[in-house]
Amino acid sequence: MRLESPKINIIIKACMKASKSLIRDFGEIENLQVSSKGPGDFVSSADKRTEKIIISELQKAYPDYGIITEESGIINEKNIHNRWIIDPIDGTKNFLNGLPQFAISIGYEEENEIKCGVIFDPIKNEIFYAEKGGGAFLNNTRIRVSNKKKLKDSLLVTGGPKFSSNIKEKIFAEFVNVSQNVESPVRKFGSAALDIAYVASGRFDGTWHRELNYWDIAAGIIILKEAGGFITFFEPDKKFPLKKNILASNSNIHEELIDLITKKNIE
Ligand code: IPD
Ligand code: CA
Ligand code: CA
Repeated sequence: MRLESPKINIIIKACMKASKSLIRDFGEIENLQVSSKGPGDFVSSADKRTEKIIISELQKAYPDYGIITEESGIINEKNIHNRWIIDPIDGTKNFLNGLPQFAISIGYEEENEIKCGVIFDPIKNEIFYAEKGGGAFLNNTRIRVSNKKKLKDSLLVTGGPKFSSNIKEKIFAEFVNVSQNVESPVRKFGSAALDIAYVASGRFDGTWHRELNYWDIAAGIIILKEAGGFITFFEPDKKFPLKKNILASNSNIHEELIDLITKKNIE
């Protein structure tokens, strides 16, 4: 590791431990019991097992910290000063279909600000990590966002809409609108956490994504910022602060992308 940070070390240790069974499960996908959590949203025993291992590792080090997780909800609710934000598998649908594009995502938040985070892709063995003020890394290499100057030349990635979405038409219209302004077709890779990590490492120039949850992107926020990227949370939902619409990119194309997504009249 290139960053000496006790918190990052603990998160990575938890990721390594949890990923052992995850990799095993990925090899035996057909045998996994899959239960339906709602339309278009499945939860596997692998998610739960992974999350359990992560929580137990983090709690060994910091038993009093608050935890917000996708599968178990909120733990130690009273501690809002120090919180882990965990998605045990981001890209579950890919995972369940044998597609190697998913990751464990863990962010650490202090006084409402993400201070460090790790996104670990266990199949490609890629660890994206960052701590405030320390830069962003992929394994042992420092990463930076791309230097693409024009939106037209950019490679973008997005996701959604969810099957249950009430704003499907709007999301489709946005996709069309952005697609008409870039030369390369917009990608959909199915893991919002890895999408942001890929923007941070310059593989993509930008991403936008509505209807995400905080755990999808908590770690990505700090990794992107420390890699020199910009992130905007547009149209925040005051009633559901854990729901997020995000737009993340290098600094050059950020305004242009914001204009396309938020200022054009797409209803
Ligand atoms: C999903 C992924 C996907 C995004 C969905 C998320 P999950 O997370 O991040 O890219 O489009 O909105 O729910 O369910 O695989 O953890
Ligand atoms: Ca997720
Ligand atoms: Ca998940």
